[in-house]
Amino acid sequence: MAQLKAGYLFPEIARIRNAHLEKNPDAKIISLGIGDTTEPIPKPITDGMVAAAAALGTKEGYSAKGGYGPEAGQMELRKTIAEKLYKGTPITYEDVFASDGSKCDISRMLQMFGSGRKIAVQDPSYPAYVDSSVIMGHSTGFNDAVKQYENITYMPCGAENDFFPDLSAAKSAELIFFCSPNNPTGAAATRAQLTELVNQALESGSIIIYDAAYSAFVGNPDCPKTIYEIPGAEKCAIETCSFSKYAGFTGLRLGWTVFPEALKFSDGSSVRQDWTRMMGTSFNGASTVAQGAGLACLTDAGLAAMGDMVAFYKENAAILKRTWEEMGYKVYGGTDAPYVWVSFEGRDSWEVFTEILDKTDIVTTPGAGFGPAGNGYVRCSAFGSRENINEAARRLKESFSK
Ligand code: MLT
Repeated sequence: MAQLKAGYLFPEIARIRNAHLEKNPDAKIISLGIGDTTEPIPKPITDGMVAAAAALGTKEGYSAKGGYGPEAGQMELRKTIAEKLYKGTPITYEDVFASDGSKCDISRMLQMFGSGRKIAVQDPSYPAYVDSSVIMGHSTGFNDAVKQYENITYMPCGAENDFFPDLSAAKSAELIFFCSPNNPTGAAATRAQLTELVNQALESGSIIIYDAAYSAFVGNPDCPKTIYEIPGAEKCAIETCSFSKYAGFTGLRLGWTVFPEALKFSDGSSVRQDWTRMMGTSFNGASTVAQGAGLACLTDAGLAAMGDMVAFYKENAAILKRTWEEMGYKVYGGTDAPYVWVSFEGRDSWEVFTEILDKTDIVTTPGAGFGPAGNGYVRCSAFGSRENINEAARRLKESFSK
């Protein structure tokens, strides 16, 4: 814990936002900061949730689903996730473990693998990968000169490499975190790029922890929605995903992680078996009510409603992207992801973040918060009401046109 350099990024930003509000009590703050959903959970999904809650008030319902566990999630949910989201891949329901979300699973995974593992991350990346690695004892200290934790390999992803890293840096890594569509850059990896990643991991014996939390935002047919579309991925990759961004479950909490049967340690033992043991020890199963809602997400009406929700946020992303572009900025992402990654080349990203907040009362996220290679960028989240997104676009144009 003492190695950590700062508080977790998003609470830090919330603290700065609150301080700004205290100084400017009339400010009408718009948050394009943390990627938190704003639109209500669609009715076909809340109907499923209400039914799951009501069932807990009956004798039969309670005895069927009211108690502890199963730690891996209800069979029906696991089966439906496998059938609806992993059709055509080698994944079966036994590989799918429901949980309270990807962030929690990432921490538990880093605990399970034991301290001192060699870890590689895209730089910039979702801060939970690095911070949880440090907390679980995978790092040996912080190198101030390069602003990186030791024993973690940072693979820079910038405009110069089209936001896909030079993977050779990760050849000796035991665990490689890879997020696509990427948080924060918004870049979605192509089939060819993911094939390169999988082939390297198979060759060097690394395990990929693939974060697919934003895969529903992918529109480009050349970009897979799951890593298991790539042959051999079931032998080297864990995939974690969530209903948070698809259905507005950021508060409700329901995700899942896939541990394929074919994924083995070098001694031939099963990674999935260890995960089963891990979850049995550290988790009592996702909330019954959240699992009822998750099942409703995967009905025809639920899937259609999630599609509409994703389309709504994608339109927000398009508005933000267009706004910055019309003002003359270089902008990345925002097409296959709900994040717009704006370049302020040569400038300190915390300084830009503060300037945006001071001039427009808009909260963004400074790129450096995601890793040293994120400096020079700010991230704008497309999760917001349309009214707020349009108003944010207006304020930005007023203060930041070049
Ligand atoms: C983010 O804003 O980067 C994430 O959405 C926060 C999260 O998923 O924990």
